[in-house]
Amino acid sequence: MDKLIITGGEQLNGEVRISGAKNSALPILAATLLASEPVTVCNLPHLHDITTMLELLRRMGVDLVIDEKLNVEIDASTIDKLVAPYELVKTMRASILVLGPMVAHFGEAEVSLPGGCAIGSRPVDLHIQGLRAMGAEVVVENGYIHAKTNGRLKGARVFFDTVTVTGTENILMAATLAEGQSVIENAAREPEVVDLAECLIAMGADISGHGTDTIVVNGVEKLHGCRFPVVADRIETGTYLAAVAATGGKIKAKNTNPKILDAVLQKLEEAGAKITCGEDWIELDMEGRRPKAVNVTTAPYPAFPTDMQAQFSAMNAVSEGVSILKETIFENRFMHMQEMIRMGAKINIDGNTAVVEGVEKLQAAPVMATDLRASASLVIAALVAEGDTVIDRIYHIDRGYECIEEKLQLLGARIKRVPS
Ligand code: EPZ
Repeated sequence: MDKLIITGGEQLNGEVRISGAKNSALPILAATLLASEPVTVCNLPHLHDITTMLELLRRMGVDLVIDEKLNVEIDASTIDKLVAPYELVKTMRASILVLGPMVAHFGEAEVSLPGGCAIGSRPVDLHIQGLRAMGAEVVVENGYIHAKTNGRLKGARVFFDTVTVTGTENILMAATLAEGQSVIENAAREPEVVDLAECLIAMGADISGHGTDTIVVNGVEKLHGCRFPVVADRIETGTYLAAVAATGGKIKAKNTNPKILDAVLQKLEEAGAKITCGEDWIELDMEGRRPKAVNVTTAPYPAFPTDMQAQFSAMNAVSEGVSILKETIFENRFMHMQEMIRMGAKINIDGNTAVVEGVEKLQAAPVMATDLRASASLVIAALVAEGDTVIDRIYHIDRGYECIEEKLQLLGARIKRVPS
């Protein structure tokens, strides 16, 4: 497994180009299974999770053509295997997103249960409840979800008692081809859900209310092809902004979308950043100052995203003052903090709350990544640590951050990848 070696202490300055959003690309790639004509998806990030999803579709017999820019044309009409096998699903839980489209378009699906993951148990009971409400017969046995429907799914009212992003996406996709109207209540409002809805509308779906907690879908007989660019990655954007803020530097994030990052930008301004935005760029300038500590409580969009909590705990670790971080979405998303404590961070953890007392700088140490965003936070911690930090198990990073060392080197970071 590769490692990253980072020599901390540099103030980061420069420009970075943001990639397409992983968490928008994954449901949109799954949505191509709904179409009766080829769909071309553009602005895909070059990430391991994207290649895993493409591999899953290919294993199902779906015809896909990839061009040199990683734009992918997908023709689901060649599908011949309605199965998402455990060997792929265990490496990427977002594979569950093929469940709704497969049942809605082909009448059946066999999808491995994703199992738990480092940050929590992450059940998919709400996905299954939603499909049952639409008339699907769903049996869970031997670690697989077996779903089928005789004829079309039926439009239904689906209420989620917990806001679930991929649960909303699975039911939204299934509803596009169901007979009659579906209403999804307490729906996720994330920008990636909105991006998926916009793609489905471009394919001929009849959807309204996306971006609110109530989405209305009038089912149609079939969906046609389209060419769709995925939205910019707001979490990648926030990660680079937080990294530069931690070092007291200046950055211009290009090819991004400032309108889907309000909660994060507000917290960065609270931390002392000067922020200016354009149509597709965000500039952050700390004017050489150390960030001030900011309190963070994660919650569903538009509140502060759980996927940015780890990065902010790293920034808070070297900020002026004491901060409180509350994680309300996942039950075990503080693992990165144990590693930061080994680097000299002053953090007290009590259940889903962490109190961080900022220190001037951290000390380099050998650390290990445990999940995607935790590994990004360890990169930030290493950037503000004295000495050379070695981060192991960085395959987690490659799942969500395209060319992270090149982008950070462009900002002046001393970072290199070494094969282990
Ligand atoms: C999506 O995961 C994202 N992944 C996650 O990003 C993100 O952290 C999460 O939403 C929350 O924003 C993708 O979009 C591919 P949830 P998802 O269903 O959909 C509970 C990253 O770093 N729940 O919104 O799996 C669940 O346990 C990843 O890119 C149920 O109880 O998350 C959690 O406590 C990490 N039953 C809460 O809901 C269900 O059936 C929110 O989970 C589904 C979810």
